[in-house]
Amino acid sequence: MLKTRIAVLVSGSGTNLQALIDAQENGVLKSGEIALVVSNKPDVYAIERAKSYGILTEVADNKVCPTQHDFEEHLKVLFKQHDIELIVLAGFMKILSENFTRDYPKRIINVHPALIPSFSGKGFYGLRVHKAALEYGVKLTGATVHFVNEIPDGGEIILQKSVPVRKGDTPETLQKRVMEQAEWKILPKACEMVSKEIQKRRKTS
Ligand code: GAR
Repeated sequence: MLKTRIAVLVSGSGTNLQALIDAQENGVLKSGEIALVVSNKPDVYAIERAKSYGILTEVADNKVCPTQHDFEEHLKVLFKQHDIELIVLAGFMKILSENFTRDYPKRIINVHPALIPSFSGKGFYGLRVHKAALEYGVKLTGATVHFVNEIPDGGEIILQKSVPVRKGDTPETLQKRVMEQAEWKILPKACEMVSKEIQKRRKTS
């Protein structure tokens, strides 16, 4: 059966993209294939990673798009051109508007570095999330993979995994543990689950 065609959206180093590539290579991700990697920033390491595996890449630089609407229309054109069926936000640091998300119901997933609804929503991204978790004093944090809708970090939860906070943690040490123990595990798993579901729906429609 044809694999679900996935676009991975990135903004930085792309360690979650790497976890998806590894999952594709070792068979954890078998119902979907990474057909395209799109970065909203030029010269990020994630693009190099994709290229080194022969994956097609595009840069949709939001800074050169006059408006958010233009940026999102650009993305839509790319996804149409490449027959994309599933969009994976893997360290993608731009919030997508309702104009975009309503066109892809249950077709966009995101990995967030906390246990939603904690430390989530507008303003909570990257190291800021871990800083907030440490300031609050939680003893457990983790990661969440969820569907993306018009509410930032507000869509249906697909998978979550908890990770302990250790005495002496810094935002950096906590981020590393959350990535290694949670994000890199649940993102590929969720990607396989949703890819499989899209294949099934394709078969019955
Ligand atoms: C990851 O921790 C990801 O969960 C987070 O940014 C990091 C990107 O790392 N994403 C967000 O905070 C989105 N709200 P990566 O580029 O190495 O995958």
